[in-house]
Amino acid sequence: MIFQNLKINSIKLKNRIVVSPMCQYSSQNGSPSNWHYQHLEHLSSTGASMVLLESTAVDRLGKISDADMCLYNDTHEKNLKKLIKFLKSKNDIKYGIQISHSGRKGSSYAPWIKHNTPLPKKKSWKTISASSISRDKGWPKPVAMSKLQIKKVVQKFRNSAIRANRIKFDCLEIHMAHGYLLHQFFSPISNKRIDEYGGSLINRTRFLNEIAQEVRKVWPRHKILGARITGTDHLKNGLSINDAIALSKDLKRIGFDYVSISSGGILPLTKMKQKEAFRVDMAKKIKKNSKMITTTSGMITKHDVSENIIKNKKIDFITIARIIVKNPRWILELAKKNKIKNLIPNQYKRII
Ligand SMILES: Cc1cc2nc3c(=O)[nH]c(=O)nc-3n(C[C@H](O)[C@H](O)[C@H](O)COP(=O)(O)O)c2cc1C
Repeated sequence: MIFQNLKINSIKLKNRIVVSPMCQYSSQNGSPSNWHYQHLEHLSSTGASMVLLESTAVDRLGKISDADMCLYNDTHEKNLKKLIKFLKSKNDIKYGIQISHSGRKGSSYAPWIKHNTPLPKKKSWKTISASSISRDKGWPKPVAMSKLQIKKVVQKFRNSAIRANRIKFDCLEIHMAHGYLLHQFFSPISNKRIDEYGGSLINRTRFLNEIAQEVRKVWPRHKILGARITGTDHLKNGLSINDAIALSKDLKRIGFDYVSISSGGILPLTKMKQKEAFRVDMAKKIKKNSKMITTTSGMITKHDVSENIIKNKKIDFITIARIIVKNPRWILELAKKNKIKNLIPNQYKRII
């Protein structure tokens, strides 16, 4: 089952294993560096049917760190296009990109320099969010966005989507999770607005839906369009699975193809406990209720577990990150157990 095709619109994924987006904090002026060529080339020959490129900022203020990948000007577009052309010339797989705005999580150090730490004042930029509530102790207070700023950010997502299509990405994913700007509007923990963008679930979803609608208008129907969303905040008074089901139904109505179920991240510390495949049951429930194509991530590290997720839990595809970096042969070893040979590059067939 896990090696069966999955056709979404006219894009055919060879199997049900996709590489999850992984921020590299290694871009140069927002464009891919040589590191990206190496990193993405490696991931492209792991047997995955699609590689999703990292969270990419739709605007200068939407970066997490200074070295984030960006897609808001012609130079970013030109350099990303070169990278994708290179990758597609060598690998018969699909590529997607995740576009995002960091909101109050922006203006921070790359995690290996200082984990969960904002930049010092002279290097920092003023962040924006749903409300003027800082992310944690020691973090600056973001500016609560005006309605004009909200409209402008909607347009930024639209513009990056247009650029992503011109680059020839097969899939576009909107990042609505992990404590970034869209999640900051969705979660009652970070959104205390009293206008039509805050309060009720409908109001907290409004900004997300406006972005989804604008992106839907410009992203071609024959390609794949998805969103990474929060299944739960893992916090009392935070988002719950019912909120995620409501958002998934909205996205389906707007014309999105899939939801990628993640969780946590609105605060640095939550009650989230990571264990093998810990989001699968939540994703299954969201799929059952929303009827959306669904994927999930989160410590899917065992071959038999991954097969069970597709076969018995009826999740459409899995999204993996750390295991494929730790063991780039993970998918090929699973393929071998299943007597699948066509994922191994010809040049390696005598070896693997
Ligand atoms: C180095 C690293 C960078 C990540 N960057 C992103 C990102 O850009 N966007 C995103 O949605 N998730 C990001 N994540 C989360 C992963 O996509 C994935 O969902 C998470 O690691 C759980 O899956 P895993 O247990 O297979 O690693 C990142 C994770 C890691 C380890």
